Amino acid sequence: MRIKPKQQILLLGPKSYLVRAEGRFDCEYGSVQLDKLVGKAFGTKIKIDKYNFSIVQPTVTDFLFKLAKRAPQVILPKDAATILAVTGIGRDAVVVDAGTGSSFLSLFLANYVGKIYTYEKKKEFYKLASRNIKNSGLKNISIKLADISKGIKERNVDLITLDLEGPEKIIKLAEKALKAGGWLVVYCLHVEEVQAVCRELTKRSFTEPRIVENLQRNWQIHVGKRTWTRPKSVMLGHTGFLVFARKI
Ligand SMILES: C[S@@+](CC[C@H](N)C(=O)[O-])C[C@H]1O[C@@H](n2cnc3c(N)ncnc32)[C@H](O)[C@@H]1O
Repeated sequence: MRIKPKQQILLLGPKSYLVRAEGRFDCEYGSVQLDKLVGKAFGTKIKIDKYNFSIVQPTVTDFLFKLAKRAPQVILPKDAATILAVTGIGRDAVVVDAGTGSSFLSLFLANYVGKIYTYEKKKEFYKLASRNIKNSGLKNISIKLADISKGIKERNVDLITLDLEGPEKIIKLAEKALKAGGWLVVYCLHVEEVQAVCRELTKRSFTEPRIVENLQRNWQIHVGKRTWTRPKSVMLGHTGFLVFARKI
C-alpha cells in the first residue's frame, strides 16, 4: 500500500511519532520532510540523523494514545480488550455504547465488531468525539447526541457497554435492547457502583454477574554491563471495575 498525501503514518524508530504525510516534522532525533514520503510504500525505511525509522500504518492504539483528544475520563485499551476477551464478541456484533465521552471505547471496539451505536448527552463531548471518530477514518460508528436514559432504539444487540453516572438506572432499558445471550458490561469507578449494578441485575433476566479488575504492572529493563530488570516504581493502580452479565 502506498502513502497518500496527508495520510496518517507512524514513524517507528527508537521512539514513535504519529504524523500526517505533509510538510516537515521535527523531533528530538532531527527533521524529516514528510511530503517526500507520499507515493512510497508502507514499510519504507528512512534515516533521521543517524537513527533508523520505518514508516508503518498506525494501529488503533497508536491513534488513541498519540492523536485522539481526551475530555472526560476514558476507558483504556487494557480494559476495552478485556471486554472483547470476556464476551468473545466478533466481527458481526452490534454494540451500543454509552456515554461516548471521548469515544475511546467506541474507537477501540469498532476495529473488532460490526457496528457501534454510541450515545452522548453533552454537546461538547459529542463534538469532540465526532472529531475523533472522523479522524480515525472508521466508518462503522454512529454517534447520537442523546440521553440513553430516554430509551435505546436498537434491538437484538450483542453488547451494551455503560460508562456513565447511575448505570443501574439504564439496566432495564438494556434488558429490552439486548438479544438473548447478549452481554451487558458496566465500567464502574467505585465499589458502591458495582453493588448498585449487581443489585439491579439480580432483579432482572441476567446471568450472575462477573466482576473483573484488570491490573497491569509494567517492568523496566536496563541492558548494559550489568543488566537489571524490575517492575517500574510507578503503576496505574486503579482504572475501573468491569461488571459482566448476559441476558437470559
Ligand atoms: C467517563 S465518560 C465515558 C468515556 C468513554 N467510555 C471513553 O472511553 O471515552 C462518561 C460520558 O457519559 C456521558 N453521559 C452521562 N450520562 C449519560 C446519558 N444518560 N446518556 C448519554 N451520555 C451520558 C457524559 O456526558 C460523559 O461524556
